[in-house]
Amino acid sequence: MKTIIEPFKIKSVEPIKFTTGEERESILKNAGYNPFLIRAEDVLIDLLTDSGTSAMSAKQWSGIMDGDESYAGARSFYRFEKAVKNLTGFKHIIPTHQGRAAEKILFTIVGGGGKFIPNNTHFDTTRANVEFSGAIAIDLPCKIGRDPDTIADFKGNMDIDALEEFIKTQGAENIPLIMITVTNNSNGGQPVSMENIRKTKDVAKKYNIPLFIDACRFAENAYFIKKREKGYANISVQEIAQEMFALADGCTMSAKKDALVNMGGFLALNDDDLAMKARNILVVTEGFPTYGGLAGRDLEAIAQGLEEVVDEHYLTYRIRSVEYLGEKLTKHGVPILQPPGGHAIYLNAKKFAPQISLEQYPGQSIVCELYICGGIRSVEIGSVMFGKYDNQTGKLISPNMELVRLAIPRRVYTQSHIDYVIEVVTEVYQKRNNLKGYRITFEAPMLRHFTARFEPL
Ligand code: F0G
Repeated sequence: MKTIIEPFKIKSVEPIKFTTGEERESILKNAGYNPFLIRAEDVLIDLLTDSGTSAMSAKQWSGIMDGDESYAGARSFYRFEKAVKNLTGFKHIIPTHQGRAAEKILFTIVGGGGKFIPNNTHFDTTRANVEFSGAIAIDLPCKIGRDPDTIADFKGNMDIDALEEFIKTQGAENIPLIMITVTNNSNGGQPVSMENIRKTKDVAKKYNIPLFIDACRFAENAYFIKKREKGYANISVQEIAQEMFALADGCTMSAKKDALVNMGGFLALNDDDLAMKARNILVVTEGFPTYGGLAGRDLEAIAQGLEEVVDEHYLTYRIRSVEYLGEKLTKHGVPILQPPGGHAIYLNAKKFAPQISLEQYPGQSIVCELYICGGIRSVEIGSVMFGKYDNQTGKLISPNMELVRLAIPRRVYTQSHIDYVIEVVTEVYQKRNNLKGYRITFEAPMLRHFTARFEPL
């Protein structure tokens, strides 16, 4: 087989700035050893997130010029609505400025004290929005998904037995909806099988609970289904995605991922009453129902992006470039969460830096060293992001896995950029015995990883 190449050529470029290791040490120190607080221009390769960082196509940019900026009933809204309806089949399409705005609206309506929201794994903003409403967010990932080393096809799946058990214990009346996140970002970007979505739907239906998809990376998930699940090899990604959505009653979407845009999102659903309530909140928090939190030009770009993202040449390149990074790192002995996910490689920090206790944040230490060594920005997904303190003892309660995510922006970096990343990660791994722990000197009460400050020990 020939090399899988980028299925595009580059017509516009953005220079990146080179800094020295010494400069980066001082930049990082000034940022409280938190890469979220570094200026982006001081980053050489930015793998902080795949969200809102995509390169748009020439057609998307021409859509930006073509956007209809009318307050009500803009042509761009109808193009956007048609594209989303065609993909999801949902009746009501409500644009929001990004994914979390859709989550905020949804959980303001259905959440509240005494309610529970199960998910295969909540993303941090989803969890925060559920908890902010007073409800409790429950993660029910399948057992194999909790083991970073086992190679399996669909480690993002929901634990169906645990879901049913949970509903029986808490009572269906206290569970306003079930969510399933595709791909499962907080669990390694691992895909969810069609069979698992179907079984989740069966349980939801049995107890008369609506099922919502957190659909940020629906196209990557659909591509994995095509490649890995029996019976889907000859079905188009578009049709697979349609089948996924047909199993649900609604979805929240961050268009900043698989709609290939820099800003945008939506809430889509079938229930008329819920849609009416959602639009009521939308008008006071986001905007009029035909633009939500967006400009007409953004709606154009999303509509175009949703068509481009299901292109199978694009997805072949996309998934292969992430897999390539994972394969090479594995070859050099670097411990990663296996197998590579759809949008990112996750370093296994517990194995990478076993000398650092969880209270001293091994993932954060790796994140800092990747920046100092090679100007690469990554993000800790472990005790910094998800750590909680025990109410009684004040001791840190760590999540199951300590990871460092190298998220790959869509259509942005070429193979030589990725080869450089492989060199830097490998170098940091070879010098892993020098890695030291960190202490938090400041933290906010919610989503602390965004603004926390650290000090090396
Ligand atoms: N759900 C999932 C699974 C996500 O990954 C994200 C964002 C959201 C919801 C929220 O969407 O950012 O548009 O408000 N994830 C980004 C990330 C931030 O880096 O993984 P948003």
